[in-house]
Amino acid sequence: MTYPALPWHRELATHPLQLELRPVASRDVSGLLILDQVLAEEDMTSADGIESVPRNEAEMRIKLTPWWQHSSSIDKGIYLVVAVSVPSGTIPILASGELHRLPVAKMRHVGVLSVGVHPEFRRRGLGQAIVEGLISWAEAHNITRIELYVRQDNHAARALYTKLGFTLEGQRHHSIQLPNGTLMDDLIMARVSSLVASR
Ligand SMILES: CC(C)(COP(=O)(O)OP(=O)(O)OC[C@H]1O[C@@H](n2cnc3c(N)ncnc32)[C@H](O)[C@@H]1OP(=O)(O)O)[C@@H](O)C(=O)NCCC(=O)NCCS
Repeated sequence: MTYPALPWHRELATHPLQLELRPVASRDVSGLLILDQVLAEEDMTSADGIESVPRNEAEMRIKLTPWWQHSSSIDKGIYLVVAVSVPSGTIPILASGELHRLPVAKMRHVGVLSVGVHPEFRRRGLGQAIVEGLISWAEAHNITRIELYVRQDNHAARALYTKLGFTLEGQRHHSIQLPNGTLMDDLIMARVSSLVASR
């Protein structure tokens, strides 16, 4: 399986970092813990908040182990990272994304997607590269519908998904309560592969 080329044509072309887009591996535990904690503090995801983030490396390893054990499995899905190539030590993870296949027999053609990019590395094409990688994997593994929830006020994510062919399917009113008590809607977006859509 090959993944889309990272966007070297943008700012990263002049950036000194050597990056790779690849499935998660056991050596990514520390880097992913840092990324997930940064993203959880920001809390722009639809459902998972800070309470679902592993608190330490042991918990992170437990969460990730099924992914590298089955990273090429058509049964589970795929977990991709954008990692900085470093010779040793903690590998910085700049972005990650997950696509998991629904386990119910009649919905095994459906995948649920999530993505996050470190705040300091946004608007460089990394989110797009991750989502394109997840879409490629889905299309190669008979997942013809990819769906997700996105907060209504998450304009960056909505723009990314729209650019990559996701369309709005619905709205869940007051589905999220922010820490200050404000009730927020989220949106259901999905991308149905053109093969199926044209039937
Ligand atoms: C949403 C997110 C993943 C985008 O990642 P990114 O690496 O900054 O996005 P990219 O640079 O790949 O942008 C690709 C496209 O997305 C859209 N986009 C991304 N960020 C945007 C922003 N802040 N405003 C408007 N459009 C934006 C644009 O269409 C962009 O294409 P362009 O560069 O040709 O204009 C990132 O903002 C993020 O991690 N947010 C917090 C976590 C999150 O919200 N995850 C999704 C939960 S549903």
